Amino acid sequence: MRGFYGKALTAAAALVLSTSLVKAADVEVLHWWTSGGEAAALNVLKDNLAGAGTGWLDMPVAGGGGEAAMTTLRARVTAGNPPTAVQMLGFDIQDWAKEGALADLTATATAEGWDKVVPTALQAFSTYDGKWVAAPVNVHSTNWIWINKAALDAAGGKAPETWEELVAMLDAMKANGITPLAHGGQAWQDATVFDAVVLSLGADFYKAAMIDLDPAALGGETMVEAFNRMATLRSYVDDNFSGRDWNLASAMVINGEAGMQMMGDWAKGEFLKAGKVPGTDFVCIRFPGTQGMVTFNSDQFAMFNQTDPAMQEAQVAMAKAIMDPVFQSAFNVVKGSVPARTDVPDTDFDDCGKKGMKDLAEANTNGMLFGSMAHGHAAPAAVKNALYDVVTAHFNGEYDAATAATELAAAVEAAK
Ligand code: GAL
Repeated sequence: MRGFYGKALTAAAALVLSTSLVKAADVEVLHWWTSGGEAAALNVLKDNLAGAGTGWLDMPVAGGGGEAAMTTLRARVTAGNPPTAVQMLGFDIQDWAKEGALADLTATATAEGWDKVVPTALQAFSTYDGKWVAAPVNVHSTNWIWINKAALDAAGGKAPETWEELVAMLDAMKANGITPLAHGGQAWQDATVFDAVVLSLGADFYKAAMIDLDPAALGGETMVEAFNRMATLRSYVDDNFSGRDWNLASAMVINGEAGMQMMGDWAKGEFLKAGKVPGTDFVCIRFPGTQGMVTFNSDQFAMFNQTDPAMQEAQVAMAKAIMDPVFQSAFNVVKGSVPARTDVPDTDFDDCGKKGMKDLAEANTNGMLFGSMAHGHAAPAAVKNALYDVVTAHFNGEYDAATAATELAAAVEAAK
């Protein structure tokens, strides 16, 4: 009996092996890159993988910021059917690694020297317990403003450098008959603006409130001021903002219906997709008061444990393809982000991309680089979601600024 089963197993193993030698399995990729600019960037990745002989099974879950994608992921894993590879942010990677769900990419990472080229701030999320569990494809940052160039010129032509100048420009745009601020009323978008507003009140304040989760900073006077600024910004948004997708808000700036959008640099992907040129059709600036500082988020691909060797092989192929320096340049030029490797030249990037790369390097050197709260790099999902609730309730007029700060400190404390 023993001999029979032994033979049968050997035959089965040989079959699996030969199949994997003939053709690596397709990778099923769960992601939330469904806007025009995002899809264009995704195609660069798909093509790169196809070139390496790996097929792509698409599992898109629409919804900026990835909340819906993470809900779908949880359901798939609970059902015992995890996707091969998943787009993931910051603390979510750490949470899944803690659950033991992620494949170990250390052998590939070591062979390819990832630790020498991936910035330490990113490695903190790509590795868990000394092992590589994700491959970073980019670095985005959230403290940007995207301004329609013609609307800027009509409003005086000088990009705002302080909060006061920003408000003056929003007023000028209003007087010119356009919607000053294009915004989509979804919790993650409100929180994205909040990242920049909190940072504009000082790097120390951002760190104390968003990274250290210090109750005194979360509930104090400076936070009240942050909420006051949010209410001011709210007054420049059009009546139809509720529920609007972020890329539709970008479109309002692209077509001149609105003056500006406060959004991470994935917004640039929409401008580029529409054929717009930085400096000519649109202008990118750091949110006033945050010059020299960067709140970042990095999209990474985590691989979920698979037993099929062909699938494991496909995962390694995908991880290698993601980390390829030539690909990192090509992909990030389209996506609006900057490479997750420090050895990629900025040659092919437009002026906003070059500025993004320079800002990131400088902020890193100067201790001015912070994880984005809105995009999962400042605190785990429970805290992030608690903050979303308060920021959105305030943005929609449910709380005044003082109440919002008190509620924020309490909600974060409860979620910690
Ligand atoms: C972010 C993600 C970006 C972009 C954005 C909007 O969380 O890092 O790559 O896709 O959401 O969907």
